[in-house]
Amino acid sequence: MGQVHSEILPGRAKQANMADYSRAVSEFRWEDVEKSFSWHESGKVNMAHEAIDRHVLEGRGAATALIYSDSAREEMYTFSDLREQSNRFGNVLRQHGIGRGDRVFIFMPRRPELYFSLLGVLKVGAVAGPLFEAFMETAVKDRLEDSGAVALITTPELLQRVKRAELPELKHVFVVGGPSDGGQGLISYEEAMAAASAELEPEWLSLEDGLIMHYTSGSTGKPKGVYHVQRAMIQHYYTGKIVLDLRPDDIYWCTADPGWVTGTSYGIFAPWLNGVTNVVRGGRFSPQDWYKTIERFGVTVWYSAPTAFRMLMGAGEASLKDIDLSSLRHVLSVGEPLNPEVVRWGDKFYQQRIHDTWWMTETGAQLICNYPGMDIKPGSMGRPLPGIEAAILDDRGNLLPPYAMGNLAIRTPWPSMMGKIWNNEAKYEEYFRIPGWYISGDSAYMDEDGYFWFQGRIDDVINSSGERIGPFEVESKLVEHPAVAEAGVIGKPDVMRGEIIKAFISLRDGYFPTAELKEEIAAFVKAGLSAHAAPREIEFREKLPKTRSGKIMRRVLKAWELHLPAGDLSTIED
Ligand code: PRX
Repeated sequence: MGQVHSEILPGRAKQANMADYSRAVSEFRWEDVEKSFSWHESGKVNMAHEAIDRHVLEGRGAATALIYSDSAREEMYTFSDLREQSNRFGNVLRQHGIGRGDRVFIFMPRRPELYFSLLGVLKVGAVAGPLFEAFMETAVKDRLEDSGAVALITTPELLQRVKRAELPELKHVFVVGGPSDGGQGLISYEEAMAAASAELEPEWLSLEDGLIMHYTSGSTGKPKGVYHVQRAMIQHYYTGKIVLDLRPDDIYWCTADPGWVTGTSYGIFAPWLNGVTNVVRGGRFSPQDWYKTIERFGVTVWYSAPTAFRMLMGAGEASLKDIDLSSLRHVLSVGEPLNPEVVRWGDKFYQQRIHDTWWMTETGAQLICNYPGMDIKPGSMGRPLPGIEAAILDDRGNLLPPYAMGNLAIRTPWPSMMGKIWNNEAKYEEYFRIPGWYISGDSAYMDEDGYFWFQGRIDDVINSSGERIGPFEVESKLVEHPAVAEAGVIGKPDVMRGEIIKAFISLRDGYFPTAELKEEIAAFVKAGLSAHAAPREIEFREKLPKTRSGKIMRRVLKAWELHLPAGDLSTIED
């Protein structure tokens, strides 16, 4: 049973669009949302048309679509500019025979060319696969191989992490900021763009055609390719309106990288489908840079994550001196539990209520949210969107009453629900094992007012700084290190990051448990997978707890870590 929460922060009048939640729920129909799209006269769609070209054709081409800044560049692009850039890149792809259904990956830091090329990929009906810039060799190879990507757009630096010799299906590599090299099979992005026409007829698609793929982690196996279809645009558009509260004059900033789902659904699609100006900040996190970004561009709607808010809070009041954040109208958070202290900090120092939103890579868009105008219970993820039914179920699919903890489940389908797991029908089916429901893997409870409260993951998935990490992927890399005999990985609670990755390791004969070896092993994971997948803590143990079939028991490791009873050990090896 969960506890009863009494604290309620009343909604604010200036964000009143969802104050009457019950009415919105009873009157809602997805068909009404669909009607707001122009659709093409053929009845077919194309995300890049709806997000970009439509605004140009309807006379809003001169409006600013993208404001990009980092420490060296500051650039602005209108919807007409984005139309032209994406048309050119679409033509480049077509010249190489790339089109409908092909998987085209983009491995690049946040910079304007990432957005141009991603839109170009969508224009020709190919499926975009953005990869986070911090991925290292193994992580990149696994994703390109599994997806069967035929083309990649990258930079000279990141190209060094792409093992092309082992990727026979990857036939075309476009390099941004690098020369063409016929011998190496490399095509200069700039040269190809300059030679391409700015006119292009988009590929007209059905709502079930592919849109984008994001790889994400579960507790077993390698990361899986979550494949989204064009239909998701209906929900991106709708949540942009009612949850992000986007209005025509907004300056909107989503801090997520397009390598993660938030950075595409809400860093690309939702703002541009709603025709608003989208701010992209390149480079790394720094409180000063972030506050200056809000101030300089007059950001009105800001979507970020709990770890970032906690770090900003950690930088203290002093970091807000001489900073003017008065342009802000609406602030939102996603990815991990949002602490009530952070909500109170926002109230006090930003004069903004931070609105928590809950969703997942697989769900494609927001499902349970705190809406503008609604009364907020700090610590709660909020209530289901009008049009979405959420519930708490036991393992057999029975509905549980208020305050009972169980599986957070969503009634199927909804527009942005994933279309498939690439190459893995069985994994897809697992989410829908209870007929009529999607099982999220999160545990939660609902209170008597219909607010949902996150309790944890049901599986072993780790959430560190809002990044989702599968223990299996990290363990597989660890055991490739010559010193490591066996490894088990868990999430250890952490005040700043929510959880950190902790690895328990038993060493091979001839290796000794030293601090240097810990560092070396962590660096090995970092170099193979990525910095965010490397364990921040390592503990050497003579032996790890295993089942008789040889599986490492992560729940026992977790119990060790938290000094809790280890529970049922009847299946342990000895
Ligand atoms: O455990 C939940 C947590 O993040 C998971 C989804 O991670 P990912 O697919 O990477 O997507 C993150 C952004 C869409 C969920 O299963 N999570 C997400 N939002 C929240 C959350 N946990 C608590 N509160 C949230 N608001």
